[in-house]
Amino acid sequence: MKAIDLIQKAQAEHNLTASEIMTILVDDCCNDYLFQAADEVRSQYVGEGVHLRALIELSNVCSKDCYYCGLRCSNNNLERYRLSPDEVMAAVVEAKSEGYQTIVLQSGEADNFATAEMVKIITAIKAMGLAITLSLGEKTYGQYKAYKDAGADRYLLRIETTNEAIYRELHPGMDFHNRVKCLEALRTLGYEVGTGCLVGLPQQTLADLAQDILFFKEINADMVGLGPFISNPDTPLREQPSGQFLLSIKVMAVVRLLLPDINIPATTAMESLHQDGRKIALQAGANVIMPNVTTINYRQKYLLYPGKIGLQVSTKQNRQKVVEIINSINRFVAENQGFRGNK
Ligand code: 5AD
Ligand code: SF4
Repeated sequence: MKAIDLIQKAQAEHNLTASEIMTILVDDCCNDYLFQAADEVRSQYVGEGVHLRALIELSNVCSKDCYYCGLRCSNNNLERYRLSPDEVMAAVVEAKSEGYQTIVLQSGEADNFATAEMVKIITAIKAMGLAITLSLGEKTYGQYKAYKDAGADRYLLRIETTNEAIYRELHPGMDFHNRVKCLEALRTLGYEVGTGCLVGLPQQTLADLAQDILFFKEINADMVGLGPFISNPDTPLREQPSGQFLLSIKVMAVVRLLLPDINIPATTAMESLHQDGRKIALQAGANVIMPNVTTINYRQKYLLYPGKIGLQVSTKQNRQKVVEIINSINRFVAENQGFRGNK
């Protein structure tokens, strides 16, 4: 079948094989048709509301050494920080007063907070009536359970790539299978589970991306966040070209066709590579934006990649900008907490 027929089929049946996905990704003739189909599916299943999640970057301390990431432990060009629990709560209070209903707590993967400390923070945020998404990396089952028991609702852990050879190459000392196990544990514990991948990693092929998409489908991810790899001069991948904006939007659109009712963010990395990146993403399947509410002086140190947007603007301005984008395409900020299926 031709790409256009496959897009139609996916829009109706929400299923594609790996080779069918590749036909869509390789062929640029039908991109507008693909984006429109994803936009229609998004509208039909999760509506016109865009969910805003307030992102707090708790700490840039990381014990891992991922080849693409500026927070990797071998990067000595980065001043490290860790918010105090009081600083976290101050950011939460500000986010709530700005109207956010979900707080995302993200950090490098290290023992930044003792489990009891994290539990205390989660409990305090839940007491404010907010939903909580965690993105703290690979933890033990016991830690995931403690966070869940304290009230955490969702967890983001990107698989990054399902090509195990590339995974091994880019993640020294890490184990692909442990990452999959973590995702399974999160599911068992009753979290809404988010995952995702990088698009345009060195050596990554369209066949790999097709497998990434099928992996999201196989584990029935509740959220999928993906974006282009952006080359970072402070990492071993400094000589490698960044991924393509367009390809990452295409992968995202196919994810929407196959997983029609999930939450898909228009990611910061997309906007960092293209001035209208998030607006374009919102019109090609995305229904979530995660504006940064971290205090500005810390935010400038959470440098995963160069050119990261929103480093200089206040929490208020950041939200205003996002609301402008949303309104400019006749969408609105959703009023509920935005669990899967717009619940
Ligand atoms: N380019 C794009 N995304 C990156 N991430 C880390 N480094 C980069 C980079 N150089 C992403 C990873 C991680 C998320 C928090 O940031 O996918 O899961
Ligand atoms: Fe650490 Fe995550 Fe960056 Fe890897 S991607 S170095 S785990 S912050």
